[in-house]
Amino acid sequence: MKNIQVEIDHAVYFAGEDKYNALQQEAVGAIEKLENGTGAGADFLGWVNLPKDITEAQLADIEATAKGLREACDYVVCVGIGGSYLGAKAVIEALQDQFAAYKKIKPEETHVLFAGQNIGEDYLAELQKLLEGKKFGIIVISKSGTTTEPAIAFRLLRDQLEKQVGKEEAKKLIVAITDAQKGALRTMADSEGWKTYVIPDNVGGRFSVLTPVGLLPIAVAGFNVRELVAGAREMMEATRHPGPDNVAETYACVRNALYQAGKKTEILANFNPKLHYLGEWWKQLYGESEGKEGKGIFPAAVDLTTDLHSMGQYIQEGERTIFETVLSVERPFDALRIPQEQQDLDGLNYIAGKRIDEVNKMAEAGTRLAHEDGGVPVVRINVPTLDENTLGALIYFFEKACGISGYLLGVNPFDQPGVEAYKKNMFALLGKPGYEAAGEELKKRL
Ligand code: PA5
Repeated sequence: MKNIQVEIDHAVYFAGEDKYNALQQEAVGAIEKLENGTGAGADFLGWVNLPKDITEAQLADIEATAKGLREACDYVVCVGIGGSYLGAKAVIEALQDQFAAYKKIKPEETHVLFAGQNIGEDYLAELQKLLEGKKFGIIVISKSGTTTEPAIAFRLLRDQLEKQVGKEEAKKLIVAITDAQKGALRTMADSEGWKTYVIPDNVGGRFSVLTPVGLLPIAVAGFNVRELVAGAREMMEATRHPGPDNVAETYACVRNALYQAGKKTEILANFNPKLHYLGEWWKQLYGESEGKEGKGIFPAAVDLTTDLHSMGQYIQEGERTIFETVLSVERPFDALRIPQEQQDLDGLNYIAGKRIDEVNKMAEAGTRLAHEDGGVPVVRINVPTLDENTLGALIYFFEKACGISGYLLGVNPFDQPGVEAYKKNMFALLGKPGYEAAGEELKKRL
């Protein structure tokens, strides 16, 4: 794959070539299961062919809705949690100017904000204050249509919008993305006549970024969703068949070989602050897909060099159960050089004239060698630059590798039974009808 390379030499050496080779053999079956729908969770494989299944008409419709929202709104709030927000957030953060929020909004420029991903009273109150008197719209996203966090945020924001512009006008500014038939959100959308998009039954939340769940918010933020899909499509073709050129297979095999060699935690490290939320998205993808039946690599993420001044000590010398996957971006968009100073009081003249990125790359290389010397195997994923095409490829790469990796681990990567436990307790403690007895029991334990 021209866009993405995976460097594994040191990690394979550490884990043992025999383990890696054995996993490569197993990966043949794992890829077949994904392509032919013969493995566990086969009802949730809609994402495998999604980049080629998206039609021209669907893309045009998403773009038209995004244009309408951009023309009508200074702010669009995406309401959703987990797979219903992280993909869009990751792509938008990777592509947009990091200081966009502090800049004056120009005509037809829209800020995409997020809500419903927490139950922070101050968060919601401060968001409502920001939106007071402003032109805003809402994209509410929930596959089940019943998730508490987004439901609370949506109730507040819808109420505010209707008070600010009236019920009829508000209808034009709300888009719901949910199940085709079931769930409270579907019922509300149908009865209110909001514009809706469907999350296909066979695409789980954390694999849904290339459906309207991700594409609409990304388009509203002003980015090219066609290029995103094109990048994903190229990666889909490049990872269809097993073999040494299949980068998703390579990554899935090396992380499982390391897991078998006792490395139970994977740290995804970036050297570019724009990738912070890509790390958050990746954590959900791998954590929910693999953490089950008492198994699974624990996915952690760090932003470097920032976190070398907080987590660096642990990575270098803590429990030797970790490996690191460095997400490395070859080219930044801007060029900035370190200025020369006559007095050189800060002692930086030895790097004067160098690009900031050159310093960053040396920090990356130095960190890799230090971590390898400290017993932390390092895998490196290289991408050329942070544009829509590359991000589309990267998203699909991680999804495909996750499917292969889950099958290599021996779990169903497409369910998430553990997510329900806290919900039941919360409902019981809040006194939701039907949960009274459980509530009494739980209260005794508090
Ligand atoms: O990946 C998943 O399935 C979950 O993280 C969901 O995306 C998350 O719980 C939100 O669910 P819903 O979209 O049904 O509100």
